[in-house]
Amino acid sequence: KTGHFTFDPGYTSTGSTESAITYIDGNQGTLLYRGYPIEQLAEKSSFLEVSYLLLNGELPSKAEFAEFEEKITRHTMLHEQMVKFFEGFRRDAHPMAIICGAVGAMSAFYHDSTDITDPKQRVIASHRLIAKMPTIAAWAYKYSVGQPFIYPRNDLGFAANFLRMCFAVPAEEYVVSPTMARAMDRIFTLHADHEQNASTSTVRLAGSSHANPFACIASGVASLWGPAHGGANEACLNMLREIGSVDRIPEFIARAKDKNDPFRLMGFGHRVYKNFDPRAKVMQQTAHEVLSELGVENNPTLQVAQELERIALEDDYFIEKKLYPNVDFYSGIILDAIGFPTSMFTAIFAMARTVGWISQWKEMIDDPKQKIGRPRQLYTGATTRDYTDISDR
Ligand code: SDX
Repeated sequence: KTGHFTFDPGYTSTGSTESAITYIDGNQGTLLYRGYPIEQLAEKSSFLEVSYLLLNGELPSKAEFAEFEEKITRHTMLHEQMVKFFEGFRRDAHPMAIICGAVGAMSAFYHDSTDITDPKQRVIASHRLIAKMPTIAAWAYKYSVGQPFIYPRNDLGFAANFLRMCFAVPAEEYVVSPTMARAMDRIFTLHADHEQNASTSTVRLAGSSHANPFACIASGVASLWGPAHGGANEACLNMLREIGSVDRIPEFIARAKDKNDPFRLMGFGHRVYKNFDPRAKVMQQTAHEVLSELGVENNPTLQVAQELERIALEDDYFIEKKLYPNVDFYSGIILDAIGFPTSMFTAIFAMARTVGWISQWKEMIDDPKQKIGRPRQLYTGATTRDYTDISDR
């Protein structure tokens, strides 16, 4: 029943972790959440059902899903005192800075869920984080654009609620289009978990000391923010805009190949996928659906992206280095079309990845044999030597 895969991931691991949650085969372009292929989940499931699967290991029955959905819905509100927390930031604060602070601050608002020795509280903390991240991300966006916070509603689905909290204003309701809600839900599913990536490993290491779950997830937010990781979706759209038109693509391809130029093609390459990122294929199809619904399928950024992908996939350097579009290559185009500023792209990634982080945290903490993490080091410094007084130096 539980598959034991043996495979060479084709990359040097920086320490190994045992987990039953997500399986990736970088050579085959395989991504399984608890054994289910990402393509099937993206097409047939929903982010909340996938969240249940990642947390509990099995797809829920109707009754189990109804109970889970009710629990998440009931936790979407933030403690009203947190409004003051948001108001302490400058208006031009990056949403990821606000989210990093707000998630860590949850430890100061939900004390009962900081007791990691209580299995019940470990579950409640998971539900609180999954449920409140959309509200925190939406309010970070509202604060950055100087608009009043919109409160969550219990009659809307997870994705629709998030879109409404971002785009409704007191003067005018925001009617969520089913296509946009479906696209957001699919983006959340595609970003939900990804084995032991940099931010998940950060959460596991932080959690291994029995730090509270809110502080651990805040550490994951911090790591994801980097442009080499979750920040790539923001960097990728900025790059596509800088390229601007297909005739400038060769100039950027040349820069990406130039060893003396630190420039890398954002949205390309992956430590694990050496064939293709299965999420990128679903994301590309979703981009077409959203842009055609909006009647902007000839969106210049999408045209640059498609031409860039075509050229890169035929270029010897990219073929030799096995560089393919990753999850971040198309997601920014969709989010931009829906109306998000680039500064919100990584915040949306963090919202989705919260369920992966907290599932991996819970898997580790639930293990009675769990020990504090202590990565090994290869010492390359000076050998033993005696101190010399400053007058002799
Ligand atoms: C995510 O780990 C995860 O699972 C992450 C993630 C998740 O879901 O959590 O999948 C999400 O972070 C996706 C990646 C998003 N980042 C980007 O799109 C930024 C651009 N990509 C790169 O910076 C890079 O590809 C990384 C960081 C993703 C991977 O870097 P590695 O591990 O150094 O890549 P590699 O070892 O496979 O590189 C092989 C060669 C290297 O050249 P050489 O040293 O052999 O001469 O390819 C080069 C790299 O310099 N290379 C690139 C490149 N990516 C790698 N050259 C130009 N453009 C690129 N994008």
